[in-house]
Amino acid sequence: MVSFSVSDRVSKMQSSSTFKAAQSAAALREQGHQVIDLTLGEPDFDTPQFIKEYAWEGLQKGLTKYTASSGMKPFTESIAEFYRHRFGASFTPAEVVASCGGKQALFNAACTLLNPGDDVLIPKPYWVTFPEIVTFCEANSVFIETEETDFVLTADQVKDAITDKTKLLIVNSPSNPSGRVIPTAEMRKIIEACVERGVYVLTDECYLFFAYPPGEVFTSATLPPEIREYVCVAGSFSKTFAMTGWRIGYTIASQSWSKELIKLQSHSATHPTSFVQYACARALENASESMAAVQAMLAEYERRRDWLIPALNTIDGFKCGMPEGAFYAFVDVRGVLGDRFTASADVADYMLTEAHTVVTDGAGFGADGFLRFSYATSMENLNTAIERLSKIFGTRSATAA
Ligand SMILES: Cc1ncc(COP(=O)(O)O)c(C=O)c1O
Repeated sequence: MVSFSVSDRVSKMQSSSTFKAAQSAAALREQGHQVIDLTLGEPDFDTPQFIKEYAWEGLQKGLTKYTASSGMKPFTESIAEFYRHRFGASFTPAEVVASCGGKQALFNAACTLLNPGDDVLIPKPYWVTFPEIVTFCEANSVFIETEETDFVLTADQVKDAITDKTKLLIVNSPSNPSGRVIPTAEMRKIIEACVERGVYVLTDECYLFFAYPPGEVFTSATLPPEIREYVCVAGSFSKTFAMTGWRIGYTIASQSWSKELIKLQSHSATHPTSFVQYACARALENASESMAAVQAMLAEYERRRDWLIPALNTIDGFKCGMPEGAFYAFVDVRGVLGDRFTASADVADYMLTEAHTVVTDGAGFGADGFLRFSYATSMENLNTAIERLSKIFGTRSATAA
C-alpha cells in the first residue's frame, strides 16, 4: 500500500492526547469493564430544551440556506447586544464573526495573523490545540512556565517572555486544564504589556461563564477600542449552553481583523449552520432564561468541585488546589512518582488498568507530573472514582493543598 503523502505542516501536528485517553476508556468498556471516564471536556448536561426549540423554529422559518460568512445579522447583533448588556462592552456587530465552535475561531484568528517563523507565547499548562494551531501556521510556540504562580499567568511573566519576534500571546482563562482564573486586574496588565510591545492577544474565553462565585469573569471584549485593535476574543456556545455538538462559536475582533477572518472562513467552512445561528441568537435575546440555565449548571459543577477537591487531597501522594473556574481538577501526582512510576503517564496507565478510571495525562498540556480530572460527570461517578483510587494508592487525612 502506498503511504499517504501528508503535507509537512500537518505531519508536524500531534493528535489530541485528550482524544487518545477517551479512546482507551472506550476500549476497556468494549471489554465489558465498568469504566469511570473523567477525561471528558464537555458538559454532561443536555442542551436546554428551549434552545432546541429555537433551532426547530429556525428550521420552520426556512433558515436552511447559506448565510453571510460573517454569520447572519441577528446572530452578530445578538452577541454585541448580549455583551453590552451583561458586561458593558461596546463593540459593533461588524466586529463579530460566527464560527464553527471556539476551535475554529482560534484557528481562523491564528491563520489570519501568523507568518512562518513568528513566535507565539503560550502559558503552561495549555490547552492541547494551541501549539498545534501554531505548528500548522509554521510559527513557533514559546512556552511560559507558570507553576511558580500556581498556574496563574502574570504580566511580569509575559513581559519577561516578549522578544522582538513575539507576534501573539494565547491566553485561556478560566483555564483548561488547570481550572485557574486570571484576576481581572492582572489580565488587563497582561494585555496592556502585550499591546505596548505591539504583540497581539488571542483570549480563549470558552469557559467565560464558568467561574465560581464569588469569582469575577473578565472578557477582553470590554477593553477600549485602541487596545482591542490587538485583541481577538474566541468565544463559544459549546460549554456555556452544553451544546458541543452544535459547533458554534464566534470571534470578537477589530473590523480590519474581522474582514480577514471572514475572507478565510468564506473559503473553508463558509459559516456555522444557519438554524444553529438562529437558535443561539434567540437564546442570547432571551438572556434571563439562558443565564438561569447556565447558573443551574454552574451550581452543579460547583457542588462537585467542592466535594471532589478535598476528596482528591485525601489520596496518598495527590495534591490539588481549589480551581476557580471551568470543570477540571489539575492534580499534582509527583508525590507518587519514584520507584513505581517515572511519569504521570504511568500513573494514568496504572489508574486505567487497576481502577478502570480514566483521566488525562498532564504531559499533553505541557505539565508532566499532573493529571487532569474532569468533573463534568455525575457525583456517583466521582464517588466511585475516589473509592477506587483510595484503594490502589491508599489515603491520608484531608489536608489543604
Ligand atoms: C480551552 C478550550 N478552548 C476551546 C475549545 C473549543 O471548544 P469548541 O470548539 O467546542 O467551541 C475547548 C474545548 O474543549 C477548550 O477546552
